Amino acid sequence: MCGIMGYVGPRPASPIILQGLKRLEYRGYDSAGVAVADDGVIEMRKAAGKLERLADLLDESAPSGRLGIGHTRWATHGAPTDENAHPHADPEQAFAIVHNGIIENFFELKAELTAAGRTFASETDTEVLVHLIADEYDGDLAEAVRRAVGRATGAYALVAMTVHEPDTLVAVRMISPLVIGFGDGETFLASGIPALLDHTREVLVMEDGEMVTITPGEVRMEKLDGTPVERESFEVDWDVEQAEKGGYPHFMLKEIFEQPRVIADSLLGRLDGTDVTLEDVTWDEEFERSLEKIWITACGTAFHAGLAGKEMFEGLLRVPTEAVYAHELRYRDPIVGPNSMTLAISQSGETADTLAGARLLHERGSRLVAITNVVGSALTHYSDDVVYTRAGLEISVASTKAYTAMLIAQYLLALRIGQSRGVLDTAMAMDVARALEALPGQVESLLKREEGIDEMARYLGAQLAEKDDIYFIGRGLDYAVATEGSLKLKEISYLHSEAMPAGELKHGTLALITEGTPVIVVNTQQHVYDKTVSALQEVKARGASVIAVAYDDDTEIEHYTDHVLRIPRTMDLLSPALSIVPLQLLAYHVADTRGLEIDQPRNLAKSVTVE
Ligand code: G6P
Repeated sequence: MCGIMGYVGPRPASPIILQGLKRLEYRGYDSAGVAVADDGVIEMRKAAGKLERLADLLDESAPSGRLGIGHTRWATHGAPTDENAHPHADPEQAFAIVHNGIIENFFELKAELTAAGRTFASETDTEVLVHLIADEYDGDLAEAVRRAVGRATGAYALVAMTVHEPDTLVAVRMISPLVIGFGDGETFLASGIPALLDHTREVLVMEDGEMVTITPGEVRMEKLDGTPVERESFEVDWDVEQAEKGGYPHFMLKEIFEQPRVIADSLLGRLDGTDVTLEDVTWDEEFERSLEKIWITACGTAFHAGLAGKEMFEGLLRVPTEAVYAHELRYRDPIVGPNSMTLAISQSGETADTLAGARLLHERGSRLVAITNVVGSALTHYSDDVVYTRAGLEISVASTKAYTAMLIAQYLLALRIGQSRGVLDTAMAMDVARALEALPGQVESLLKREEGIDEMARYLGAQLAEKDDIYFIGRGLDYAVATEGSLKLKEISYLHSEAMPAGELKHGTLALITEGTPVIVVNTQQHVYDKTVSALQEVKARGASVIAVAYDDDTEIEHYTDHVLRIPRTMDLLSPALSIVPLQLLAYHVADTRGLEIDQPRNLAKSVTVE
């Protein structure tokens, strides 16, 4: 998730673009840059790090042209360095582009261009696009862009410019957002409405497959196939802060609702039939076949994603898997045998305990695989392989979309390793792959369904907000989800909650269940369904008020519960990616009812870089 800004008009472009990028920092901020058409050349300024570094560069010397593009980056391909920062230009610097999204067939395109003698200055997928545009150019930028994107697959919003047409910007939207802003004799392009609000409130949101050509006198919209598009602009009446949150009251809620897109992005270009391609994984099949042990280490939400991973890897791959809190691991004396793999899971890639735990296993000979959301983060520096989670910038301290993306990364690993080891036959691999592909649509429909999971969570959240202690139970993968549901609730609502395996209740905690005690049960795993129902009956008999998370077609669960949060049916193995969603919403609404801060809960930090 990156931020794009473009400007065509009578004023110097650089300060307008910089201002717009500041408003888009919520979309990512690991590097930034601008390109401005200036006296027959394209002048670029780029800097790794926060936007202030680019501002400093522009303070020293800003290009003075009146047409330009800018970008604030949240890396997906290539570390956040000056070279990988956008805009990207062809070697002659005759064309420049900014891009948000992922080019799915970037490997093939890059190989093709390299074979044709093209050289690359960065590790990004974006750079292939600017080479393609340069290749296709024969006097018409719009046509060159049209032909270039015709060769690329994936999700993208891009804006292109060329020295040959110094008063023209061409932009295309395919899945990643792009908005046009209409000012007085000037036109803006941006990834989000916040970037436009300092200049205009008249906007038009581009749709997938649309292309726009902007010159000082004209804004021409069409589809990629050339069909003209006529759509009215509209007036925005939000303020900037609301706009940054996309109209949601909190980033946490926005990020919950981003999960369908995050899952789709996490799968993009990685799943083809049952074949799994992971860009930064370098081991060979022999390693997968000889794998004898998987370690998983992490903290907080990432650890809970790892708990689900442990269940899933053991069940699917039949490889012994141990999930250990990194802060525990680092002071243990772990026995690391041959042929092991360590999955170090961390949204930030900077959590001190996770780095230390991962390092210890690495030093003892385990192959270290980072699962992280931040390209070039500390963890990636000493990992042998990396699986990036592609959740985009997560702002809310309480992690939601990054958790789901961590699950998807582990599913992809399991699907790949399972096939190499021969434990997943073609039919089973196909079932998993299809179920994975269905997930974005299922999460989308869960969040959008008419009866409203959000409404239901709001209603139940208001009731739970009155309580002091809340218990979460489940078995196997459902227990893993219960741990994360409980963490979400306690970290933002400040209510006491704990999660335990359903079978453990009777060994102590049952003593705390009295009339009206809330118990939230996740019950999706068919092989232990009845066992969990027994635990429910035990708590019901003591007066508990039970909320279940269960499949849509589960007609039995309502006999044992007070309320049911329904999710679409999937393979039991994949249910965590769906069952966590109502629990995230529930936690959100409890905290919201209690009038709490939500995005920045007390005493907590987004990433804990000290011990
Ligand atoms: C902090 C955050 C948690 C997060 C944990 C691990 O405690 O508040 O939300 O899960 O760190 O962070 P990581 O970046 O390693 O996933």
